[in-house]
Amino acid sequence: MTAYLIRNVSVVGGAPTDLLIRDGVVAETGAGLTAPDATVLDASGLVALPGLVDLHTHLREPGREDAETVESGSRAAALGGYTAVCAMANTSPVADTAGVVEQVWRLGREAGLVDVQPIGAVTVGLAGERLAELGAMADSAARVRIFSDDGHCVADPKLMRRALEYVKAFDGVIAQHAEEPRLTEGAQMHEGEVSTRLGLTGWPAVAEEAIIARDVLLAEHVGSRLHICHVSTAGSVEVLRHAKARGVKVTAEVTPHHLLLTDEKATTYDPVYKVNPPLRTAADVAALRTALADGVIDIVATDHAPHAVEDKECEWAYARPGMLGLETALSIALDVLGPQWDLIAERMSRAPARIAGLDSHGLDPAPGVPANLTLVDPAARRVIEPAELASRSRNTPYARMTLPGRIVATFLRGEPTVLDGKAVK
Ligand code: DOR
Repeated sequence: MTAYLIRNVSVVGGAPTDLLIRDGVVAETGAGLTAPDATVLDASGLVALPGLVDLHTHLREPGREDAETVESGSRAAALGGYTAVCAMANTSPVADTAGVVEQVWRLGREAGLVDVQPIGAVTVGLAGERLAELGAMADSAARVRIFSDDGHCVADPKLMRRALEYVKAFDGVIAQHAEEPRLTEGAQMHEGEVSTRLGLTGWPAVAEEAIIARDVLLAEHVGSRLHICHVSTAGSVEVLRHAKARGVKVTAEVTPHHLLLTDEKATTYDPVYKVNPPLRTAADVAALRTALADGVIDIVATDHAPHAVEDKECEWAYARPGMLGLETALSIALDVLGPQWDLIAERMSRAPARIAGLDSHGLDPAPGVPANLTLVDPAARRVIEPAELASRSRNTPYARMTLPGRIVATFLRGEPTVLDGKAVK
């Protein structure tokens, strides 16, 4: 195993220092380290962060390997500075058995680019009718702790209650896609002034807020952990703020796109902007940014949702919802938050690692800590070229935009997965 001496790096925004990585861990830190056997990397001007952790990634394997595979998604993740991703269950077949979650977990290990932690479905086939084999998935080699029907809401309150009760035994968490389905039938975009102007059926904010309100009450009643996926409205933030003040064990995520883009994008009719939940108003974006800064929203999660060309480059009404996220998330966070490195480390690495129970991730580089880290050049600016992305899909909403920040290197357990901005394998 090669040793690496990273010189003059700012650890989470601190004064420049050296990091010696050996045998999978950070062996030493401090100015002026020497290690004759180590490969030296000059990291002047770069910031070291604990490797990013994504709680919400769609890897599409098994079933839609034309859109993404565990390997291509893992490569995209590593290039985005991630060392661990949680893979959503809406694959084909659905990850609702020990067999499927073990398959995804094994494919992640074989790719060896990030730790792939499968998420299990809450209900069989995501159909919302019967609980899936949550215990069998928890006991499997994949050690599933997060369960989600993401893409679909667990709309039946009794089923949601049972799921929360079930996972309590092993400190699991239910990650809810909050969307009251009766209120979003036929919805194409956010319900508001723009949808009225365009004549498109709206997805009202209350459809999200009503489910979050119901589920924080259920989580409080049961005493279980609840996580809310892709929070998108100012009203949801208020419900979460209230629930957290009461001590409910609820955590929440926001996506990079909901922090940056608004429903005005729908006026282009470009389906790259179609996503679920939909892009909202500028007032919602402002409320989400405030909530991310003050901790009502715990984490940034990408909802990386690759889609094949034929599923995306078609009429708005027929296009699948979803956008790529892994290779641009850190840049969007930097754009939105500025160089608040401790906040970025907290929202994109430490907190998601804690929620997911990934003990060897989300730890700031320090002696003895597993060397899962990423090096960022905050001064770099790059133009996003879809054809250059490692994802098998091309549905980025940031095409040809100039974004701040560049991932220079990523290390997984002391081995580089990305060096000089390029994937190592
Ligand atoms: O936009 C979305 N795409 N939202 C979801 O909840 C699911 C995801 C997907 O799987 O494509």
